[in-house]
Amino acid sequence: MLLEVKNLYIDFEGMRGRTEAIKNIHFSLEKGEILGIVGESGSGKSITALSILGLLEENAIISNGEIIYNGRNLLRLQKKERQLLRGREIGMVFQEPMTALHPTMKIGKQLQHVIQRHRNIPAKEAKEAVLQALQEVHIDQPELVAKKYPFELSGGMRQRIVIALAMSAPPHLLIADEPTTALDVTIQYEILNLIQELNRKRGTSVLLITHDLGVVSKICDRTIVMYAGEVVESGPTKEILNRPNHPYTQSLLEALPDSVSPGQPLRAIVGETPSLLQRPNGCAFATRCKYAMDICRNHHPKLAEKEVNHQAACWLEGTVSYD
Ligand SMILES: Nc1ncnc2c1ncn2[C@@H]1O[C@H](COP(=O)(O)OP(=O)(O)OP(=O)(O)O)[C@@H](O)[C@H]1O
Ligand SMILES: [Mg+2]
Repeated sequence: MLLEVKNLYIDFEGMRGRTEAIKNIHFSLEKGEILGIVGESGSGKSITALSILGLLEENAIISNGEIIYNGRNLLRLQKKERQLLRGREIGMVFQEPMTALHPTMKIGKQLQHVIQRHRNIPAKEAKEAVLQALQEVHIDQPELVAKKYPFELSGGMRQRIVIALAMSAPPHLLIADEPTTALDVTIQYEILNLIQELNRKRGTSVLLITHDLGVVSKICDRTIVMYAGEVVESGPTKEILNRPNHPYTQSLLEALPDSVSPGQPLRAIVGETPSLLQRPNGCAFATRCKYAMDICRNHHPKLAEKEVNHQAACWLEGTVSYD
């Protein structure tokens, strides 16, 4: 096991009170696995990623839980130790590649800096490694691209560069938060294929965050579905897609166009997510759920195993126990 997030709670202190953004989430990531986190906007996907990276904003409070990476609880580490892990052991890719790139430094120089920092090799060797890194992310003319500035490249090319930067240490874990959302559909496919190829070739574990079930279906071995800061379903991606157990997952699937392909935005599901300032007593999805029963409105369902390795938090089908 590479990563285990256990009973994690994250609140935000704000003007209007305390937002319970993440409530008791639990998941794990095996070595070499690609795990998808899927859910609507505001479901807590990015917060989850940022908590692993140690990049939560100042007003965030981790009120409970553990994040075990390679046997160590990251929440107990010093700031400096976490900084060292970031980039070196845990690579990151976000939606907008420009935020990860230095706007006025040539691509080759940026990569060279990072490679030298991580690998401690002389400049000449690092220059060769730069070209190799560019080739690995399928950049056809690495010498030419190395001499360019980020603004001279397309969005897809920039995201390839960011992936090359993230993979340069090389990390054991790559966290990619909506890495293809800002890109054209054909480019999205290429970037997903690239992530999958690097995962297979190097054995890097990947945590892939997306609001798009099409993306998840393409490359994720397992998927967890988040709703209002909770995990409502988790299991092998194929099972989640073919036999969704939670009504929320079902409505996500129903909201998809016929073919599950990346780039198709989710159609909205009727109703609104509950306020995280005052969580309902029962299931957070009850107000939007067509199957909601009395018990759903009054008692919170726990995540429970429906089939082997396939869990859902739902009172339907005689699930689970009270919280
Ligand atoms: N700095 C903050 N202060 C207060 N609340 C916050 C802050 N950051 C996040 N939140 C709360 O956490 C919730 C989850 O945010 P998060 O960014 O993780 O959502 P997400 O699932 O990544 O959504 P998206 O698909 O839009 O990226 C937000 O809806 C908000 O209520
Ligand atoms: Mg997000």
